[in-house]
Formats: sequence, C-alpha cells, structure tokens
Amino acid sequence: MFPLIDLFAGPGGLNEGFSSVTAGEGEYAFENLASFEMDAYACETLRLRETFRHLTRTGADTSGYFDYILGRKPWSEIFQGAFAEAYSLSKDKVYRKVLGEDARPDVDNIIRQKLAQQEEGSHWALIGGPPCQAYSLAGRSRRTGDATFASDHKHFLYREYLHILSEFKPTIFVMENVKGLLSSKNGDDSMFQTILADLSALPSGVRYEIRSLVVDKSPSDLAPSDFIIRAEEYGVPQKRHRVILLGVRSDVASLMPRRTLQRADGVVTVREAVADLPAVTAATSNRAPKAQIDWAAAELAALEDVAKLEPAQAVVSMQQGQRAARAYSSWIRDSNVHKPAQHQPRPHMVSDLVRYRVMTALAERLGKSPKYTDLPSALHPEHSNVTKAGTPFTDRFRVQVWDAPSTTIVSHISKDGHYYIHPEKEQARSFTVREAARLQTFPDNYFFEGPRTQQFHQVGNAVPPLLAKQIGDIVAAMLSGVKG
Ligand SMILES: C[S@@+](CC[C@H](N)C(=O)[O-])C[C@H]1O[C@@H](n2cnc3c(N)ncnc32)[C@H](O)[C@@H]1O
Repeated sequence: MFPLIDLFAGPGGLNEGFSSVTAGEGEYAFENLASFEMDAYACETLRLRETFRHLTRTGADTSGYFDYILGRKPWSEIFQGAFAEAYSLSKDKVYRKVLGEDARPDVDNIIRQKLAQQEEGSHWALIGGPPCQAYSLAGRSRRTGDATFASDHKHFLYREYLHILSEFKPTIFVMENVKGLLSSKNGDDSMFQTILADLSALPSGVRYEIRSLVVDKSPSDLAPSDFIIRAEEYGVPQKRHRVILLGVRSDVASLMPRRTLQRADGVVTVREAVADLPAVTAATSNRAPKAQIDWAAAELAALEDVAKLEPAQAVVSMQQGQRAARAYSSWIRDSNVHKPAQHQPRPHMVSDLVRYRVMTALAERLGKSPKYTDLPSALHPEHSNVTKAGTPFTDRFRVQVWDAPSTTIVSHISKDGHYYIHPEKEQARSFTVREAARLQTFPDNYFFEGPRTQQFHQVGNAVPPLLAKQIGDIVAAMLSGVKG
C-alpha cells in the first residue's frame, strides 16, 4: 500500500476517496498514515471514519459502528471489543494541530516518525487543501477595501503545505483550492503565480512537475484555467469548480506518464441524489405572530398566480448520465443503512417556510429557481434591501432543481440554508446534512460528528469523495509505474 499524509484534512473527503482505491482483489492501494486538522469536530469525524476503515479492512465486526451512527445504541454500549480497539488505534492517525510556524517542529516530528516506519525509499503521496476562505470570491467581496486582507495569514497557509513538500519530498502531491485562487491577488501579485513560483523554488531543492488532471498538455503549455476541475463532469451531482494541482517529483516524472480524469457519460441530478430519502418537513423555530397571517394571505395570492403559469417545457439542459447515475448510486449506498442518519431538517422561521413554499411552487412551474426579486414584495424580509441596485446576495434564496446537479455546497450552508431549498413543494425546507452529504458524494455510512452547524460546515468544506476516488485511481496508477 502507498502511504498517504493528509494536511488540512477537514472531514476527510480526499482521504475517503483515496482510501477507497483498490489494487486487486481485496487489496487497498493507499494507507493513510496521518491526517492533520485544527477543528475538533472534524478530527472526531476523522477518528470515527478511521475506526470504521480499520474494522472493514481487517474484516472485523462493524455492527457496533452502525449501531452508533444509526442511533441504535449509545457510545457507552458500543465502545468495547473490536470497536474500542480500532478507535484507540485511530488516535495515531488523526492529529489535531493548528498548522503554522509554531506547530512545525511537532508536525515534522510526527511525519518523520511515520515515514521512518515505511520501507526505505517508499513512494507516497501528500494530499490536502490549504484553507480557502481568503481566496474565495464571497470572502473577498465581504472584505473589499480591507487593508489587512493582504496580510491575512490564511493567504500563506499554503506555505505549510510547501514546507512538508520541501522537507519530506513525497513522490506525488495533490493540492486542492477554490477557483477564486486563480484571480486572487496579494498587492499586484497573483496568488496563483506566487504559489507556482514558490513551488518551483522549494528550499531543499526538490522539484515537481505540475500537471493538470483534466487536460493532457505538457506543463509549459498549461494555462491557469487548465487546473479547474468541474465536479459535475465526473459523476458528482453538484456544480463544484475547484483548482486542483497534481505535482509529480521531477526525478521520477518520466516513469509516470500523464493521465487525466475520464468524463462521465452525463450528469447526475439532484433527483438521483436525494429523491429516495424519506420526506421530512421542518419544525418552526418561532410561534407565528400576528404578522404571519398577512404572510399566509400573501402566500395564497402568490400561489394562485403561480397556478396560472404554464408548466415548464424543456427544463433539462444537461444530458443525464445513466452510467454515471448507477456508479453514483452504488458508491453512496450501503445495505447496512436503510434509513440514513443525519436527515433531520433544521427548524425554520415561519416566514422563511412561507417564502420557501412559494418559491418551490414557482420553481416547479418555471423549471428553475425563481430569483428572490421575483417574489411578491410581501414576501421580502422587512430588513431586505433586495431591490436596491448593487446589493450583494440578491439571490440569497435559491430552490435547487430536480433535474440538474445542485449548485456548490459551501460551508455557509451551516448558517441558514436559504440557498439550498429542497425542490419538493410539500417539503419546502433547506437541505438536511444527509442531503448535502449526498450531493457531496459522501457514502450513507459516513457520519459527521458535532452539532448540526458543525456537521454542515464539515460537509461544505470537503472534496467530494467520489471525485477524490477518481483522482486516487490516477495517483495509484502513477505510483505503481514508478514502483515497478
Ligand atoms: C477546504 S477544508 C479541507 C477539506 C479536505 N481536504 C477534504 O477533502 O475534506 C480546509 C480545512 O483546513 C482546516 N484548517 C484551516 N486552517 C488550519 C490550520 N492552520 N491548521 C490546520 N487546519 C486548518 C479547516 O478547519 C478546514 O477543515
């Protein structure tokens, strides 16, 4: 098995994909040696997943794991035998660390010890995504004119990743970031070009050839946009566009021919991802005040207007992929999980539920999400300045449509969910954690620790595991080439 080290691991999307790559009958291609992450809940999620992985890989009894994630037994009852043993082993795989200059000696030590236990000269991979808020377009627009932006330390966390590259020289690395990285600037300098320049001048002198996973061009011909991966083109039911760099150590690059991801036969849709989950409706988080009566009246009027609209004709502009849908379905499902966990809707304000209901009715007729500004003005929040020109987030409410991939699931989903309204009128609520996890291609047996907002946060941060699996296939094939 090829060793893996995972930096800024989040809830483990990349690791999950890589860890699912097989190398022949019953053999796995990778073994994660260590994940580093600062968030306590994400670390708990990682530990639980490492426990499950260990139980599965060793053929041990996994019933305790399922009893826990499906809420059939409390932790105190399942924490015994093989489960407890596997859980205690997972401690040596998940390290809660705030990566940065202060933590370097400690982190270096851990990695050094892990690699020392491997065969001399083992080929291995570094994976991970330095955090992205500082580069994300939303984050930047909120901070326009903020003089401290250029000195935000998050801009430079990629240096921790580069430090590990320089110090430990993995054979291959995979580095993920948001698309905003391509247009992000530090003063006059492009952040993306700065990172590439730093990568080409690592202090130890180790060199990497930087490759695209989507276009087969020699490194010198690659444009920044060649590093953008559109997840919906690879069987993920979500439009998620990310920059992913594949680095191959120059001394062995010639032994590893270039490979690119295979596009799926079409898209996987929201319907294929979430329609089979049990229908659930949201509780209300406030008692309806008198003003709600006006809301209800407005809803009725709006629904009558909606009923007059012609039903949408051709709403599907993207080709649906039958093979992709089948591959998605077998990736997600687990025969041990009949009723997936973490599928409880969060409570909503009555006013939001009314708004959602009208919007889903409109979406059903239009075949696309109505714009927030299409709503009758009675349904605009009182504080809204939605009709004023130049207001950001004018479309902060969005109904996801059935027959297309969803929009990007971002960690902001943890805040209110207005952008992720379930397409079915009778449900008219924001997506549950499980629905978001399905759109992110986390299998139904994946469990996110922590309170609900933290679960959403983790899901929104991750690399879709099904995409990571396809990247892992490529990395495994390349490493096998250099090993042989
Ligand atoms: C984009 S997410 C990574 C997602 C992950 N690669 C996956 O596939 O699921 C970035 C993660 O970096 C973590 N993070 C941010 N700053 C950090 C730091 N200084 N040290 C360690 N982790 C950090 C965040 O908590 C977040 O979970």
